[in-house]
Order: sequence, then C-alpha cells, then structure tokens
Amino acid sequence: MPTKIEKDSLTGTETTGHEWDGVRELNNPLPKWWLYTFYACIAFAAVWVVIYPAFPFQGATGVSGWIAREAVVRDVREADARMAPIMARIRAATPQQIAADSEMRGFAVAGGRIAFANNCAGCHGAGGQGAAGGFPSLADDDWIWGGTHDAIRSTIAHGVRAGESDEERISMMPRFLADGVLTRAQVSDTAEFVLSLSGRADDMTAAQRGAALYAENCAACHGDAGAGNRDVGAPNLADRIWLYGGDKAAIIQTIAYSRAGVMPSWRGRLDPAVVNMLTVYVHALGGGEN
Ligand code: HEC
Ligand code: HEC
Repeated sequence: MPTKIEKDSLTGTETTGHEWDGVRELNNPLPKWWLYTFYACIAFAAVWVVIYPAFPFQGATGVSGWIAREAVVRDVREADARMAPIMARIRAATPQQIAADSEMRGFAVAGGRIAFANNCAGCHGAGGQGAAGGFPSLADDDWIWGGTHDAIRSTIAHGVRAGESDEERISMMPRFLADGVLTRAQVSDTAEFVLSLSGRADDMTAAQRGAALYAENCAACHGDAGAGNRDVGAPNLADRIWLYGGDKAAIIQTIAYSRAGVMPSWRGRLDPAVVNMLTVYVHALGGGEN
C-alpha cells in the first residue's frame, strides 16, 4: 500500500493509490449525507419488517398485527354502519318521499349516480344519454314505459322482456314480414307512412298506401298519429327520436322482424334501497314526470 496521497494532475482529486496499467483510481466517496440516509433506510426497513407484514407467508403479520385487507374491510363496515340509518329510511320510503326530503334526495342522487355507473351505464351510457341499438336515453322526456317515479321504479325493478319477473314490462311487436302479415312492398309503404309522421316521407303516394296499412296493423299500439302508447311500451313514431334508427332501412327492419329490446330485472340483484336511489337519480336526470 502506498502511503503518500497523490493528487490527479488533471482533476485535482485525490487518488486511492490503486493503479491498473497506469490508470489510477480517483477517490470520490459518496457524500456523507447520502451515505447516512442510506444507512437510515436500511435500519428503517429492518424495523418495518418486524412490525408490519412483509413476507408473503400465510399468517405472516408482523408484531403489530396490522393487515391492509382487514383495514379495508373494517373501513367498509364502518361506512356501511354509518349509512345504515339513511339506507333504512330510503328502503322504507317511496321514491316520491325520497325526492321531497332534501337529505334523502341528496344521498339518493349521489348513490344513484354510482349505482348507475356500475350497473346501467354499459347499456344506457355514462350520463343516461342512451346508445344506438335500442338503449333509450333516460335523460330526455321521451318515455317508452313512463317517466313518473312509479313507472321508472317498476321498469328498473322488474325489467323489460327479460323473463325474470312476473311484473316485467312486456309486449311484442309482431314480425310483420317474417310472420307473413305484410308483404315486402306493404312493409315498405308502411315505413314510408311512418316517415311521413315526422314529415320526412319522400314518396307521398307510397305513404298514402301505407296509411291504410298503418291504421289496420299499427295504430292499436302506436296510436293513430304515432304518438305511442306506454301501456304496451310502443314508442312515439312521430317525434324523430329513434331507438333503432330513423332511416327507412332501419324502420323497414323493425317492421319486418321487430326488435324486442331486453332489459334485466334489478329487483333480485340490487338492494331495494339502491333501486329507490336509482329511481330518484334517473327521474332527476331531466325527464322526470310527476
Ligand atoms: C343489458 C342492457 C341494459 C342494462 C344493463 C340496463 N338497461 Fe335499462 N333498458 C334497456 C333496454 C333495451 C330498454 C328499452 C326496452 C324497450 O325496448 O322497451 C331499457 C329501458 C329502461 C327504462 C325505461 C325507459 C323508458 O323510456 O321508459 C329505464 C327507466 C331503464 N331502462 C333504467 C335502467 C337502469 C336504472 C339500469 C341499471 C340498474 C338499467 N336500465 C340497465 C337495457 C338495459
Ligand atoms: C303489439 C303492439 C305493436 C304493434 C301492433 C306494432 N308495434 Fe311497433 N313497436 C312496438 C313496441 C313494443 C316497440 C318497441 C321496440 C322493441 O320491441 O323493443 C315498437 C317499435 C317500433 C318501431 C321502432 C321505433 C324506434 O324508435 O326505433 C317502429 C318504427 C315501429 N314499431 C313501427 C310499427 C309499425 C309500422 C307497425 C305496424 C305495421 C307496428 N309498429 C306495430 C309495439 C307494436
């Protein structure tokens, strides 16, 4: 070991005295503050491993006994307990009573928004704006089955054509072409008449032929002027709002083969309090009726 401390002529840094093939090692130790922080971290980790669960063994909990999963379960249980009284009130109340009570209403709309995002947004869109292919907007005042609190609650609780509840919304538009009720030409004429209901017919002669067919085959459900009928869930055909598209091809498709949209029943899937909260939330989206 050399005793004399040499300085590198180029950088002015001390050398360690080690030399390999004429290349000398400079003595650049880590800063003290860095080194001591590093040692402190090691010491901290040693203490941590003893106190908190650190090894992936069954039952390895550390001396404190703290477990993240249990902490979450406890937090959720505490939140449930905190919410239990208002949930019980909401469960026992009618949607009208909830909407009239500012405390219950605020809670129901906030909770309903979350339940909607979890259960309904996939079909009805994140803000209830609806989606192409038969998923109606719940934010407008165009209702298929009705927009009062009671009607909305019944639709949510029992569903539509899902075969899951005795009280579900059900009605079937006939498949006019597939079942041989109308010919292809008659379906086309009827579609032209349907277009004329919202002022969009191109061929008035065809629409006039379609008018008679409509009166005979369609008016019973959709109304003489196409205003629709909530008792049988027949949509308004005159308002330019379409479940399945309003071009002639889409209308022909509906008349020829019908659509039969399905919505699940939520009664058995969600807490009745949550069904009430969803009812109040949907009613408050903008189209709620009294
Ligand atoms: C699998 C898709 C699907 C899911 C999920 C779904 N819906 Fe629906 N919903 C539909 C369809 C389809 C219709 C229209 C049925 C028809 O043709 O009459 C509908 C209709 C409705 C209606 C009646 C609208 C009207 O104009 O009368 C309401 C209210 C409604 N849904 C609320 C909800 C709520 C609240 C949820 C969540 C708990 C939900 N839906 C989940 C498919 C769905
Ligand atoms: C038994 C009642 C019933 C009869 C009769 C009926 N419909 Fe329908 N119609 C419905 C229902 C219910 C729907 C809702 C769509 C579904 O099945 O989800 C519908 C939907 C439609 C739609 C789609 C509306 C949209 O917003 O996309 C059109 C168009 C339509 N019907 C036209 C007709 C025409 C034309 C006739 C006569 C040839 C007719 N319907 C006869 C019940 C009926």
